Amino acid sequence: MKIITSIDELKTIIRKEKQNGKQIGFVPTMGYLHDGHLSLIEKASIENHFVVVSIFVNPTQFGINEDFDVYPRDLERDQKIAEIGGANIIFHPTIKEMYPNGYRTYVEVEEITEKLCGASRPGHFRGVTTVVAKLFHIVTPHRAYFGLKDAQQVAVLQKMVKDLNMDVQVIPCPIVREADGLAMSSRNVNLSPQDRKTALILSKSLAKAKEIVAAGERNAEMILIQVKKTLATEPTVIIDYIEIVDFETFERIDILKGRVLIAIAAKIGKVRLIDNIILEDLPSCI
Ligand code: PAF
Repeated sequence: MKIITSIDELKTIIRKEKQNGKQIGFVPTMGYLHDGHLSLIEKASIENHFVVVSIFVNPTQFGINEDFDVYPRDLERDQKIAEIGGANIIFHPTIKEMYPNGYRTYVEVEEITEKLCGASRPGHFRGVTTVVAKLFHIVTPHRAYFGLKDAQQVAVLQKMVKDLNMDVQVIPCPIVREADGLAMSSRNVNLSPQDRKTALILSKSLAKAKEIVAAGERNAEMILIQVKKTLATEPTVIIDYIEIVDFETFERIDILKGRVLIAIAAKIGKVRLIDNIILEDLPSCI
């Protein structure tokens, strides 16, 4: 497995692979890979002949007071994990390679980017769509794999690909969790041991919501009351949002029906974490 830092070099390699009839799978990441990333790389390796994993902590998707500087980085460790997953190349460009002096072009998806994480992190999705659009142009993959922990990111990228007629299939993949339920995230390493325990309340609250829905509750407000009650058992958690939205439009809903996303974002210690569940094919009552 090779580590490539130059856009031109990567494009030349991809061109040759495509001339030889190879299908290209792509896993964009910001590094500090975990088993969630590994599952994406493994799936990409099964479904494609040649797999590129990008590792780039993208500055344009971080706000000024966010955690760009302390975002975990460990290329050597990432190399081992990507290799286990079957990646052929790690693309690890510098910031200057991606955004040279005078860079002025941005990609923006409207509306769904104004809700949930978009509302609390202004400019975040503009940074995500810009970097992913650039990466898609560089890698020209047949398929690109994203984890559903960032469910809104997946929806935003699917919209970008559709609206800009990009020739790539965005493949959403299930959330991978630790044995105790915590959704895997590169940011988990920045949790103190106590905060790591506290963080479990996110998946517990979502499990509570799932249980209430399974028991027949369809009123969003009633479900939110119970979720907030569960979250309140850990008073140090600072909730950013808890929302129940339609998974297509990301609009808030009053009554659960069809495909629904229950999403939480919260600060635990210094770390902002997100988690969600997607409830499929919900009849309006049971
Ligand atoms: O999900 C991530 O790690 C990032 O948002 C992505 C898609 C790699 C873009 O920087």
